Amino acid sequence: MKHVFSTLLLAILILPRICSGQDRLATVDLKNNYWYKNSIIYNLEVGVFKDSDGDGRGDFQGLIQKLDYLSSLGVDAIWLAPFQPTPGKDDGYDVADYYTIDEKLGTGGDFAEFIYQAEKRGIRVIMDLVINHTSDEHPWFKNARASKNSKYRDWYIWSEKLPKNHDEGMVFPGFQTGVWKLDSLSGEYFYHRFYDFQPDLNFTNPAVVQECQRIIGFWLNQGISGFRLDAVPFIIEIPKTGTEKPKLDYKFLTDIRQFAQSRKADAAILGEANVTPEENENYFGGNGDGIQMMFNFFANQHLFYALATGKLDPFKKAIRETKRIPEASQWAHFLRNHDEIDLGRLTDKQRQEVYDKFGPDTSMQIYERGIRRRLATMMGNNRKHMELAYSLLFSLPGTPVIRYGDELGMGDDLRLRERISVRTPMQWDDSKNAGFTTADTAFRPVIDFGEHSYKKVNVAQQRRDSTSLLSWTTDLIRLRKSCPEIGLGNYKLIEAGSPFIFGIQYELAGETLVILHNFSDKPQRSEFTMNGNPLLMDLINKNDQKPNAGKHTVNMPGYGYKWFRVAKD
Ligand code: GLC
Repeated sequence: MKHVFSTLLLAILILPRICSGQDRLATVDLKNNYWYKNSIIYNLEVGVFKDSDGDGRGDFQGLIQKLDYLSSLGVDAIWLAPFQPTPGKDDGYDVADYYTIDEKLGTGGDFAEFIYQAEKRGIRVIMDLVINHTSDEHPWFKNARASKNSKYRDWYIWSEKLPKNHDEGMVFPGFQTGVWKLDSLSGEYFYHRFYDFQPDLNFTNPAVVQECQRIIGFWLNQGISGFRLDAVPFIIEIPKTGTEKPKLDYKFLTDIRQFAQSRKADAAILGEANVTPEENENYFGGNGDGIQMMFNFFANQHLFYALATGKLDPFKKAIRETKRIPEASQWAHFLRNHDEIDLGRLTDKQRQEVYDKFGPDTSMQIYERGIRRRLATMMGNNRKHMELAYSLLFSLPGTPVIRYGDELGMGDDLRLRERISVRTPMQWDDSKNAGFTTADTAFRPVIDFGEHSYKKVNVAQQRRDSTSLLSWTTDLIRLRKSCPEIGLGNYKLIEAGSPFIFGIQYELAGETLVILHNFSDKPQRSEFTMNGNPLLMDLINKNDQKPNAGKHTVNMPGYGYKWFRVAKD
């Protein structure tokens, strides 16, 4: 009894001190196993990040040299684009061997060193897992073609005759004419949802599923913390069901999640599936036993509509419709990624409005649904608009994923084919080839023209300028990290008194955040009420807001953003 009293007394004495200011959050259980819920994920391609040996291509040793840069930016996890041996016809998304490192990027030893150095800085590594298809140069496929009796024959999907719907369901319309290709060797057609050099694996074959588990086990053993699972809807689609809408095998997702966690308890899987919110529930699984994290493509395309037009309703609806997810699940939010912005779920009219603003020239558009530009060029380098977009990304309910170079405002090169336009080498400084390589020629050209040339946009220059986009992004990441409510708390959208203002409120362990974004380029006034009329502490500009006559009135500049935490007495 005495013991209980003294503990209580101690709690009464100590708690008020812990509970002042930001320290209050120190008392919150941050659920360590859910590391992916409050991480900053940075996506990069080793081949275009930093070249260490002067051969013109980035490599793992180069990436190791730049880990301190990523660490100082505040990155918690690196998502590596495919780095395995490949013919490189789809920039590595055509894998020819799942168990080694592309020798152009380094050795297994370099990889191990990279993982060690990343771990030392508290940075996790997740990697692309491209298992829907292999390269047509993968030995499994070569074997499968060579003989119908090959043990690998049934690892792929074959048809003796050209199926009726052979020219439907292409992922890259305009660049792909069908989804079945005649194999000249065996005389049968094989199935490929993506390019014709990417034959789909047959997941109804248990041997294929088992092999995928082996791949997962292998890389977890090499120190990987999780996977970005490529093309999920096509992995789980059961082809040849003869029905209009193919059946989907969601159990596969639960199984690989379970397998991954049986090998490493906190391994996480981040799925790529541009599907509707209802469909998405099946990917997370009823009890959250499916894939832990999914990219919120649905919100992303409505967000671009809002950024292009200032019209917020469809975006608010998308955020509301993607709200209900299981406890262990998490959305990954992003602005731009390594692909096109996919606007396929907007209406034709909405898509046209986004094209008009962000990609008016047909050379900027692709696959009859998207835009192949980076954020900075789409926004005409308008710093305020870019800040609005980034501040919003970091304040959305989920885990933010950023693309290398966007922290600097890097541009794109529309002369490069398809999506390679947004995959140019990282711009480190203003020396030849942007400090990316000492070779005379980089394997992919650096951007050396216009507003986004490496002479104008590079890390070295922005790092010593406290007003640069890089300095601003670094501060924003620090701010995001002091607000775990966003990754872990409950949220609701608030009516913020203007059709142009997006307001969101988070709650976690008695803490409350209110974040406002003005999508108009003109100043707007935000008005809202809050229970108890609290003081709002401005987390960016020390511009605290006192309520007046029972309501808060916040003047928002054009494209302005405000982050507040509710003060306690
Ligand atoms: C995913 C990737 C894309 C790749 C495709 C085929 O959509 O994001 O870059 O081309 O899968 O693997």
